[in-house]
Amino acid sequence: MKRILSGITPSGDGSLHIGNYLGMVRQSIEFAKSYDCFLFVADLHALTTVQEKAGLQKNVENLILNELALLGDLANITFFRQSDVPQHAELQSILNNVTPLGLIKRAHAYKDKLQKETPEEEINLGLFNYPILMAADILLYKPDFVPVGKDQKQHIEIARDIAERFNKTYKTKLFPLPEAYIPEEVAVVMGTDGKRKMAKSLGNVISIFEDEEEIKKQVTSTYTDPTRIHPTDPGHIEGNMVFTYLDFFGDKNRVVELKELYKAGRIADVEVKNYLFESLIKFFRQARERYQELAASPEKVKKILSDGAERARSVAKETMREVRQAVGLTNKYSFFSY
Ligand code: TRP
Repeated sequence: MKRILSGITPSGDGSLHIGNYLGMVRQSIEFAKSYDCFLFVADLHALTTVQEKAGLQKNVENLILNELALLGDLANITFFRQSDVPQHAELQSILNNVTPLGLIKRAHAYKDKLQKETPEEEINLGLFNYPILMAADILLYKPDFVPVGKDQKQHIEIARDIAERFNKTYKTKLFPLPEAYIPEEVAVVMGTDGKRKMAKSLGNVISIFEDEEEIKKQVTSTYTDPTRIHPTDPGHIEGNMVFTYLDFFGDKNRVVELKELYKAGRIADVEVKNYLFESLIKFFRQARERYQELAASPEKVKKILSDGAERARSVAKETMREVRQAVGLTNKYSFFSY
C-alpha cells in the first residue's frame, strides 16, 4: 500500500467547521480507503505562534477531539501528535546542516511576516525554521505523496530541495524526493457571508460540534439571495450559500426539488434553511456522538494517540537509524541505537 503523510497545525481554537470538513478531513477519509495514511497534529509547529501554555493545551486537545470524532474509523490511519515522536526534532537538527540560509529566506511564511513590517528582531527562529521542521516531518516517513493545500506547495518544494541536498552531501539515496498532492477540487469553501473563505476568525463558519442552537443561528444567518424580498419572488441559486452547502450535505433528489421550488418562488428561505439545519445535524450525528463519547473518556483518546505514536515511532526510528549511519554519527564507539 502506498503511503501518504500530512500534518495539521492547530490554529485558532482547534475546533473544526464544515469548511474544514469539506476540505482536509473529507480528503483524509477518502485517502484512507486506498492508502496507508500518517496524519499528525503539528503541535511543535504551533509553538512558533502560540506561546501561552493554557492556550496551546486547549487548542491541541480540542483539535485532537475534533479530528478523531470526524475521522471515525481509523483503519489505515496512523493518527498521532508530532511531539510524541521526538525523532521529528532530531531529524530537523540534522537537516539544519544541509539547508542553505538563502533557501529558507525565500519561504513565504517568513517573507510575509517581514512584509507585514514585523521587524526581524521579532520573528523567532522557530517560524523561520518552520520549513525545515516540516521537511523533517515528511522525510521521516518517506511518503509517496503529501496532500496539502496550495499555500503549502512551496514548503514541499523546500523539503524536496533539502532531501536532495542531504542525498548529495552524503552520497546516498536515503530520502525519496517527496511529492506534493494538491487536489484541485478541494475548492475553497466560502463562509456564511458568501464573500470570504470560511474561517473562524471571520465569524462566517458553520460549526460541527457546537450546540444545536448555535448551529441553527449560524444557518439562519447564512447569505442567500439578496434580491429576494418575498418568498414568492423567484430566487437565485448561484452564490446562494444555503444551496452551496446543501449540495454537499442534503439528499440529492430533495435538493433538486428545493432548487426548482426556490427558483419558482414557491418556497421561503426559512424552509430551505430549516432543511439545511436538519441535514447538517443528520450528516454529523455520528461524529457528534463520537465527540461526546471521546470528550468523556480521556483514556480512550490517550490510547488512540499512544497507539498512533507507537506506529509512527517505529517508522521514524528506522529512518533515524539510517540517517545516523549515513552522516557518520554512528562509529566504532557507538552504543546507542534505535
Ligand atoms: N504546515 C502545514 C500547514 O500549515 C502543516 C504541516 C506541518 C504539514 N508539517 C507538515 C503538512 C508535513 C504536510 C506535511 O498546513
